[in-house]
Amino acid sequence: MARRRQLYEGKAKILFEGPEPGTLVQYFKDDATAFNNQKKGTITGKGVLNNRISEYLMQRLQEIGIPTHFVRRLNMREQLVREVEIIPIEVVVRNVAAGSLSKRFGIQDGTVLPRSIVEYYYKSDDLGDPMITEEHITAFGWAAIQDLDEIMSLSLRVNDYLSGLFLGIGLKLVDFKLEFGRLYDDQTDEMHIVLADEISPDNCRLWDVRTNERLDKDRFRRDMGGVEEAYQEVARRLGILPEG
Ligand code: C5P
Repeated sequence: MARRRQLYEGKAKILFEGPEPGTLVQYFKDDATAFNNQKKGTITGKGVLNNRISEYLMQRLQEIGIPTHFVRRLNMREQLVREVEIIPIEVVVRNVAAGSLSKRFGIQDGTVLPRSIVEYYYKSDDLGDPMITEEHITAFGWAAIQDLDEIMSLSLRVNDYLSGLFLGIGLKLVDFKLEFGRLYDDQTDEMHIVLADEISPDNCRLWDVRTNERLDKDRFRRDMGGVEEAYQEVARRLGILPEG
């Protein structure tokens, strides 16, 4: 296969030029980082599992009418995606207190929130992804208010659907992070907001409903061990353990 031109290398993924205009190849690495790059490591086999898990979840979301950048998985570590203009915002949806929310407000980990909370962070490694409000997003021109309404509504639909999907396999969707992009639709001559990036145990907190065992990247962040096994368990419960 011809060498693809690398366009961008992130912490856990590399983006290459795709085979057709308007497409990219998203390559999943085993590298893991936490605490804004202060902690680095590798989780053997993570890229393969996240590629598969993200494919599965994006496909299920597409089936319920959530537009995503996902086109198809190409091989064990790569998937074809549509090239979108990434909106520089991380959307975090929370159902149960954990991580930075617990810390910021002094709420015990595991406390069920009275309603889901949606937060926005500005995507900037240099600034350590500061938390922002709608005011910052519109004032600094990162997204228009109509885009934000769409992002909020899509995020809540994703939360409703994925919470049910994970509950069905004995997992609590504690919180997760989403990213969105803009895609030009030549049929309607309009820009659309679509779900981008990935959805995997790297950017979701998933706890076993009975034991509260953590089956996500917190095992890496907190040096709990059994990281690869946890990702495998999520894939196993989804019924998609990679072949081989
Ligand atoms: O660290 P915090 O509690 O704010 O994380 C909330 C959720 O967002 C977690 O599921 C975490 O994995 C995810 N997240 C992420 N990328 C970031 C920050 C948070 O995937 N840069």
